[in-house]
Amino acid sequence: MQMNLSKIIEGGKDYYVPSPIIDSTVPRKSDDVFFNPHQKINRDLSVLVLRTYAKIENKNDIAICEPFGGVGVRTCRYAVEVPSSTIYYNDVNPKAFRIAMHNFSLLPKLERNKVSTYNKEFTDFLNSLYLDQPIMDFVDIDPYGTPIPFVHRSLKFVTLQGLLAFTATDLASLSGLYPRAMYAKYGIGIFEDRIGNVHELAARSLITGIQRIGLNQNQSLIPVFTFYYRHFIRTFMIRVRGVDRVLDQTGFLCRCQKCSTIFQTPLTPKEILCSFCESNQILKVGPLYLGKLHKDTYLSSLKDEPHIKAINDTKSILKIINLINEENKLNIPWSYDLPTVAKIVSKPIPPMDFIIEKLSEIGYKCYNTHYSGVSLKTDAKFSDLCSIIRKAND
Ligand SMILES: C[S@@+](CC[C@H](N)C(=O)[O-])C[C@H]1O[C@@H](n2cnc3c(N)ncnc32)[C@H](O)[C@@H]1O
Repeated sequence: MQMNLSKIIEGGKDYYVPSPIIDSTVPRKSDDVFFNPHQKINRDLSVLVLRTYAKIENKNDIAICEPFGGVGVRTCRYAVEVPSSTIYYNDVNPKAFRIAMHNFSLLPKLERNKVSTYNKEFTDFLNSLYLDQPIMDFVDIDPYGTPIPFVHRSLKFVTLQGLLAFTATDLASLSGLYPRAMYAKYGIGIFEDRIGNVHELAARSLITGIQRIGLNQNQSLIPVFTFYYRHFIRTFMIRVRGVDRVLDQTGFLCRCQKCSTIFQTPLTPKEILCSFCESNQILKVGPLYLGKLHKDTYLSSLKDEPHIKAINDTKSILKIINLINEENKLNIPWSYDLPTVAKIVSKPIPPMDFIIEKLSEIGYKCYNTHYSGVSLKTDAKFSDLCSIIRKAND
C-alpha cells in the first residue's frame, strides 16, 4: 500500500508524517492515520520535562514506554533528544506503525538501536512487555480523548518515583460543560455552574480522575508539571506510595451564590459557608485536587534547561514556562476569568495591566496565567476585584 508522506522538522531533525497534514484533533475514521501539528508543543515540553526528570532524579538510563506512539515522531524525539533513553514504542494502527518504522529506519544507528517496536492493542502490548521488562521510568499515555481507561494498567509498569504523562483532549467533559460525562469519567460532581477559569478546572479534573485510580491502589500521583494548550491538557505526575499526599490536597471548589466569592473547603467539611458573606447558598465542584499543579524544582530546572535552545519554537515554549512560573507563585486552586467577573459587575473589562496594578497597590498578589490572556490568579477578595473593575469604568 502506497502512502503519501510530508516532511516536517521537530527538534532540528526531519521526520515523515501522513500527507496532507490535517488540522484536527481526532481522526475521521477509526483506521485513519493522521498527524496533529499542534501537538508539537506537547512533544517539545515532554522532551524538556524528561530531561529535567533525569537531572532531578539522578537517572543515568531512562526506560520509556510509549503505548500510543502514532507515526513515531515522539519516539524518535525521545531517542534523539533524551540522553541514555530506551524506548518501547507501540501503536495498534498498522498504517501508523508502518510510517513509524520508516521514521525509525532513518535514525542514526545509535538512536535506532534504542527503540523496540510493537504493533499491538494497548493491553496486549503491556502484557508482552511484562515478560521482557516490567519496570519503566516513564510511561507516556497519549491516546485520543480521555486517558482514564489506560491509567490502571499503566501504574503497574512505572517504578516508584517514576514519571507518568497523560494527554487529554476531552475538554468539554473535563471543564464541566457536560456535567454527566465529567462525573462518569472523572468522578467529579459539578452543580449548575462552572467556577473560575475553565481550563484550570479541566487540568484539575484530569489530575483528580487519574489520582482516584492511584488511590485505589494505595498510591499518590503528584503533578510536577501541567499545561493547557489549544485543545488539550497534559500533566506529568510522579508515583509515590500511600494516599495521604493526595487526600490532604483534595476538597471542593465553591462559589457563593450571593456574593460570587470563590473559596475552597476540605474533603469532609462540617458545613459550607461563604468565606466572605457567610451565606450557605453555595455552588460546589468536587471532590477536586486543590494542590499545586507544578513542582517548584521542576519549574526552575525547566526554565534553565539548555535544550530549549535546540527547539525551533523557543519563544512559545518559554512563554508557557514563564507564565506557569508566574501563576505557580500563588497556591490558590482557581484563576478568575475576567470576562465572567466583568459580566457579574455588568461593566466592560479594563486592561489586565490596570487591574494588576490596582490590586497590587492595595497589597494583593496577582499574576497572569498561561490559560488565557484574560485570566488572573490573585489572593484578592472578590469584592475588591469587582470594585476595581467598576472604578475603571467610572
Ligand atoms: C494522539 S495519537 C498519538 C500521537 C503520538 N503520541 C505523537 O505524539 O506523535 C494516538 C495513537 O494511539 C493509537 N491508539 C488508539 N487506541 C489504541 C489502543 N487501544 N492501543 C494501541 N494504540 C492505540 C492510535 O492508532 C493513534 O496513533
